[in-house]
Amino acid sequence: MLLAKFALLGNTKISNKIMKNRIANYVRAAYPGLFLVSAEEQRVEAELKSVTDSLNYDLYYWTPVAGLVNVTKSAVSNATDPLEALDAIAEMKEKGVFVLKDFHLYIDAANPNPVLVRKIKDLLVSAKATSKTIVLLGCRMLLPPELEREFTVLNFSLPGKEQLGTVLDGILDSAQRPPIEPEARAKVLESAKGMTTTEAENAMALSIIEGKAVLPDIISREKAQALKKGGILEVIEHHTDISSVGGMEVLKSWLLNRREAFTDEAKAYGLPAPKGLLILGIPGTGKSLTAKATASVFQLPLLRLDAGKLFGSLVGQSESNLRSAIATAEAIAPAVLWIDELEKGFAGSKSSGSSDGGTSARVFGSFLNWMQEKSSPVFVVATANDISQLPPELLRKGRFDEIFFVDLPSEKERQQIWNIQISKYGRKPGDFDIAQLAKMTDGLTGSEIEAVFVESLYAAFAGNREPGDLDIAGCLNEFTSLAETMSESIKALRSWAQGRARLATKPEAQPQGRKLATV
Ligand SMILES: Nc1ncnc2c1ncn2[C@@H]1O[C@H](COP(=O)(O)OP(=O)(O)OP(=O)(O)O)[C@@H](O)[C@H]1O
Ligand SMILES: [Mg+2]
Repeated sequence: MLLAKFALLGNTKISNKIMKNRIANYVRAAYPGLFLVSAEEQRVEAELKSVTDSLNYDLYYWTPVAGLVNVTKSAVSNATDPLEALDAIAEMKEKGVFVLKDFHLYIDAANPNPVLVRKIKDLLVSAKATSKTIVLLGCRMLLPPELEREFTVLNFSLPGKEQLGTVLDGILDSAQRPPIEPEARAKVLESAKGMTTTEAENAMALSIIEGKAVLPDIISREKAQALKKGGILEVIEHHTDISSVGGMEVLKSWLLNRREAFTDEAKAYGLPAPKGLLILGIPGTGKSLTAKATASVFQLPLLRLDAGKLFGSLVGQSESNLRSAIATAEAIAPAVLWIDELEKGFAGSKSSGSSDGGTSARVFGSFLNWMQEKSSPVFVVATANDISQLPPELLRKGRFDEIFFVDLPSEKERQQIWNIQISKYGRKPGDFDIAQLAKMTDGLTGSEIEAVFVESLYAAFAGNREPGDLDIAGCLNEFTSLAETMSESIKALRSWAQGRARLATKPEAQPQGRKLATV
């Protein structure tokens, strides 16, 4: 009973005034081709129905299953073949809006059918004369370059709090639940931000069944799963406290100074929301760890963008992937958007098209544009090891608020890291000679210190005892650090960073990465 009612809610009509007005204006101005990008077919259909009703236009749908149908009347043509469908539309005399569902799948962007492309172009010319608007509807914009300019692209943003509120009211109503109190309601809507209306609806319905109420935790969990399906953006639930980052005092105080930056008070004070941070440095020095901790400092949700996966196999897909990832991040905002190992995703943009037809360069350009112009409170924290792979435009001021360079930890920093790591594995730092351990690990990164400690835990476990300084010293004797094997590239990275990036820690504390001291 409950589920049957929920199923009906798929048609929840959510108004989006601005978008509706824009579509109405395009139709009235006889724009022949519109491409509406949205993963919410039902919501877009509801908007189109309301637009055509208000303008007194007929609305038609074409699908490869049903052919061409007039929504208020009946089937117009049973042409399920795309070429025949275009002919059928061209022959019609009446004005109207023609929505071609899944049609973009026929116009393979990489390998378009020339007959189909030509027919569309011809149809668009004749459509203009008869006040017809052809609408392509898809969750991503995928058009061959020959058609890109023929269509006006409109990206539907994900539903805002107000629209999600309508969804919530509908769910509560159909489940015969009383309205929930304002504070709990705000939490539910916050957790649903970034979902489509259908996803939010499903998650809320599930929450009532599973948790007997609409609970933010269940909604957040479902949102994390929904985003994962897209494969590019991921909600990271794990909370890393800034106290788990050893050293990097300058970087940490930069962040802590801005801990209130995304609050209403900061906004009222007139502070601009920080744009983002780029953390460059030696592998294993805690860049990813710090990026994760950023979200805890700001107390914002953490989203990870997989820059490597951004580049889909199809031309055009990467751009729409980026667009939809940005749209989701903006819907969830304020949020931290973490791009780990930035060079992996954007490396191809440097060779500007020699390898992938310019896709990387274009996607990278869109990303830079967004970084430069974004007004939504999305704080970007990016990490990178290999700056030689990164295009210089990225490093220009104005994209990120600051670029930090993380060097090998100093002695004082290594003391902090030892303390953190020993506690992390459930042992007491007081049981170890931290000062001596820090001295012995000159030239090791944070992650190497962790690896040495884990190794000594294994050794002690095998010897049926608790680990001690001697176990660690024994492991250190066997250990070859990155600083030894990669000293040239570390030197190069350091000299690049000089004058270009701010040091994450105070300069006088920098170690030279000497050879390991042994016991
Ligand atoms: N400064 C640090 N303080 C505490 N722990 C650290 C620090 N640096 C590294 N670690 C430990 O090493 C692990 C790996 O570090 P992390 O992945 O953040 O390094 P990274 O700089 O991102 O490396 P890569 O460049 O290889 O991605 C961390 O999860 C943490 O346990
Ligand atoms: Mg990392």
